[in-house]
Amino acid sequence: MAAVLIREATEGDCGDIMKMIRELAEFEKLLDQVKISEGALKTDGFGENPFYHCLVAEIPPESREPQGSTVVGYGLYYFTYSTWTGRNVYLEDIYVMPKYRGQGIGSKIIKKVAEVALEKGCSQFRLAVLDWNESAMDFYKARGAKDLTVAEGWRFFRFDNEAMRELVRM
Ligand SMILES: CC(C)(COP(=O)(O)OP(=O)(O)OC[C@H]1O[C@@H](n2cnc3c(N)ncnc32)[C@H](O)[C@@H]1OP(=O)(O)O)[C@@H](O)C(=O)NCCC(=O)NCCS
Repeated sequence: MAAVLIREATEGDCGDIMKMIRELAEFEKLLDQVKISEGALKTDGFGENPFYHCLVAEIPPESREPQGSTVVGYGLYYFTYSTWTGRNVYLEDIYVMPKYRGQGIGSKIIKKVAEVALEKGCSQFRLAVLDWNESAMDFYKARGAKDLTVAEGWRFFRFDNEAMRELVRM
């Protein structure tokens, strides 16, 4: 396997990250929900008060595909807070391009997220996975993650934009 560097993303990576966000959403069969732009990623990740942090996996230029990028995967996370355990990390996305899967890159990304979480005094890092994505669930379980839906019965809720507008009109 080519040497892979896991590093913090820079603003200049946002084009590659945007492309991979779309690829992941397509894999998840939810591409129509991607509304974000490269500009928003730049503003929200690299301004004074970043809303997220991102790691990218980079391969050496000589290992890339013709016309391909050296950035072949990413993990996007942010800090959250638990009233039970304090500081937490939430891993919003993890993705490795198909050609580069099964070579340890995803493992390196979640290892780095765990390192950051521990360095920052977090007690947990959490993530969500679609119920049909067995391979991703196996990947997390094999690395020690607990399925909270099975273990504790948690379900995921979301207020969409229209629901929020309705809420403030009430
Ligand atoms: C899940 C994912 C990030 C793992 O990255 P990776 O670089 O393939 O991970 P690694 O090489 O470190 O580990 C591969 C492990 O995942 C398994 N795996 C899961 N999906 C795989 C795939 N599509 N191709 C190859 N291996 C896969 C392998 O069997 C291997 O198992 P192991 O636990 O016995 O080692 C990557 O497969 C991916 O991007 N999948 C599609 C997107 C996705 O599901 N993202 C998670 C959304 S919640």
